Amino acid sequence: MSDRRVAVVTGAGTGMGAACAQALAASGLAVVLAGRREEKLNETAAAIRAAHDDAVLEVRPTDVGDPAECEGLVADAVARLGRVDVAVTAAATFEPKHILEMSAEDWDSCLDIDLRGSMLVAAAAARAMRDGGEGGRIVLFSSINGRVSEPETAHYSAAKAAVMSLARSMAVDLAGTGIAVNAIAPGWVDTPMIAEFVAEATEEDLGRVNPLRRLGRSEELANFVVYLANEAPEFLTGSSLFMDGGQTAIAPVP
Ligand SMILES: NC(=O)c1ccc[n+]([C@@H]2O[C@H](COP(=O)([O-])OP(=O)(O)OC[C@H]3O[C@@H](n4cnc5c(N)ncnc54)[C@H](O)[C@@H]3O)[C@@H](O)[C@H]2O)c1
Repeated sequence: MSDRRVAVVTGAGTGMGAACAQALAASGLAVVLAGRREEKLNETAAAIRAAHDDAVLEVRPTDVGDPAECEGLVADAVARLGRVDVAVTAAATFEPKHILEMSAEDWDSCLDIDLRGSMLVAAAAARAMRDGGEGGRIVLFSSINGRVSEPETAHYSAAKAAVMSLARSMAVDLAGTGIAVNAIAPGWVDTPMIAEFVAEATEEDLGRVNPLRRLGRSEELANFVVYLANEAPEFLTGSSLFMDGGQTAIAPVP
């Protein structure tokens, strides 16, 4: 087995997934960059290579809404790089829809990608980690919407709450294997996912989002994911870890 630890990162083309891929590569891991849009994955890979010419990267276009592709992603990672030590599931879709307009298709397409896709990639990675015999670390991207809702997010919030539950259940099933599983729950972070909302908001509106009065930066989240991937003890497992500038800590006041 190769000495270099291997991370599989979904949603690696943009936003926090891209930042995680970059930070994990900077920390010395080989990284498999997975996501739906190959050109975005190539852009992330080029940026990483420009900063780290010894980076070991594989670009692997993957639609996590397709179960066979989730399996294939991990199988390819093992075939190409020999092992899987870390999985980060950042791929998600966020298409706001009022509950009165919500169709079965809206619900299913969100849950298939944001919940089932996370489970399928994480479970396939866990099987590869078990086969490798050296444990591993899995970080699932949830959201503050797993605990608190926002308008028109019934499907997304349900998926993100279930991702927190998935971290607990995986931690229980995998106890004793050396594989730790946690969910990370970001507040509003400046990425393409919320760009439309940010563009429509005033400075004052954005200042009200959390007590720190600013959006999170992808790098802040990514550095924490690197800690979870490389240094966090096995004893830290089954948790949902909020990084939200205090957004879920504060109650509105007049
Ligand atoms: N930005 C925020 O404020 C915020 C807050 C809380 C949680 N999150 C979560 O953080 C994670 C990263 O999101 P982001 O903010 O970086 O947004 P983003 O839109 O930049 O990243 C999501 C990525 O997932 C990819 N993706 C979408 N559908 C896919 C599919 N079917 N298969 C594979 N890839 C797919 C997209 O192409 C995109 O690159 C997501 O899970 C999101 O729900 C974001």
